[in-house]
Amino acid sequence: MPKKLFIETLGCQMNVRDSEHMIAELNAKEPYEMTSDSSEADLIIINTCSVRERPVHKLFSELGLFNKKKKVGAKIGVAGCTASHLGKDIIKRAPYVNFVLGARNVSKIAEVVEKDKSVEIDINYDESDFAFKDFRSSTYKAFINISIGCDKSCTFCIVPKTRGDEISIPVDLIVNEAKKAVDAGAKEIFLLGQNVNNYGRRFSGEHEKVNFTELLRRVSAVEGVERVRFTSPHPLHMDDEFIEEFAKNPKICKSMHVPLQSGSTKVLQEMKRGYTQEWFLNRINKLREMVPEVSISTDIIVGFPGESDADFEETMMVSKKVRFEQMFSFKYSPRPHTEAAEYTNAVDPEVASQRLHQLQEFQDSVVDDVMHSQVGKTMEVYFEELRSDGHISGRSDNNFLVKIKGSEDLLGQLLKVKIISAARMSLNGEPLA
Ligand code: SAH
Ligand code: F3S
Repeated sequence: MPKKLFIETLGCQMNVRDSEHMIAELNAKEPYEMTSDSSEADLIIINTCSVRERPVHKLFSELGLFNKKKKVGAKIGVAGCTASHLGKDIIKRAPYVNFVLGARNVSKIAEVVEKDKSVEIDINYDESDFAFKDFRSSTYKAFINISIGCDKSCTFCIVPKTRGDEISIPVDLIVNEAKKAVDAGAKEIFLLGQNVNNYGRRFSGEHEKVNFTELLRRVSAVEGVERVRFTSPHPLHMDDEFIEEFAKNPKICKSMHVPLQSGSTKVLQEMKRGYTQEWFLNRINKLREMVPEVSISTDIIVGFPGESDADFEETMMVSKKVRFEQMFSFKYSPRPHTEAAEYTNAVDPEVASQRLHQLQEFQDSVVDDVMHSQVGKTMEVYFEELRSDGHISGRSDNNFLVKIKGSEDLLGQLLKVKIISAARMSLNGEPLA
């Protein structure tokens, strides 16, 4: 009987891909069967996120529950960003944890499982040219990492301390991954990195120097690749060459996540983001001019230390000008090992909550307008998911979630769909004959 593996993945898409890598490496050593019930698992892994504070508290209460319900002899491991920054303290606080594996040490998973109480969290470890074994949770869409770590030092962000310096993954390894994914049935490639358009600044060892724009060309030229997506670009590195390639390359899906963080140039400086409000708006204008159908999503932090009412109004103003198709907004959360955690000019939590509410209320109204204005349009949708109610769903080229009536046989197909109605989260359509 194969062993059973339960893995819970929190946080970003890079974590999703890291979990797939762990499953692949474990399976290469001995076969595992996946389970969604931790109490029947032989191995329980939580792949954690530490970008905001809440999940850290949640981690220990969850670990306690897993331990209580686990099968006799089952092992528990903590992986990901929280593993990187808490390290052996996790085992101190939860002594039943068998191993701790940092976000930059994924390739060591099969080793650490064997050694009780092992803690592998070296943030200088370089696995940028490690050829991971294959495992993908979706047949249709393939996540591919293009870099590890992050070279920026945004003062609010813990990621550079948990994932280390940025190193690009060699282009031939990425192209090879894309070919394998296509052979296994994927039409869509999703390139992942903390800062994708900084690709190519540093490789470890002798590798062909290719920038992000060229990487996009190479990946979209792979036979069988019909769609390319990526996340996230950094506004600072959105040069004309990149925007032009995005606009004219028909394989690149016309949606982009462009994290603004704040609309106030003063706050952006305090965050060390490296761009101004004007630069951000200039890039968005160029993008919207060149690609009128583009949908743009963003991340916003409210209540960053020192954010005044006037600064927040700048964020509101930029949101009103851009009218992002989607927004992920958060209250600032001080993180260990970050510069901003030392700042003494915290915003009153009540004020921060009120600002978040105001921003989200405005954004909801934008989303309602955006969704309703899609009715009557024709979109090309790539169907990936079977829903329980006789429907299937997928993403339009510009990233709207679209549902139609249909069954399994339509999964993996790109179909032209006419939109007939809209809700806040998704659109309903009918395929064109
Ligand atoms: N480079 C990544 C960012 C990773 S963190 C990217 O571009 O996607 C994801 C998001 O979490 C950030 O964009 C930011 O909006 C939010 N975030 C990061 N640190 C935070 C903090 N300390 N408090 C609140 N939100 C934070
Ligand atoms: Fe974090 Fe800024 Fe890098 S948000 S992941 S330090 S680009």
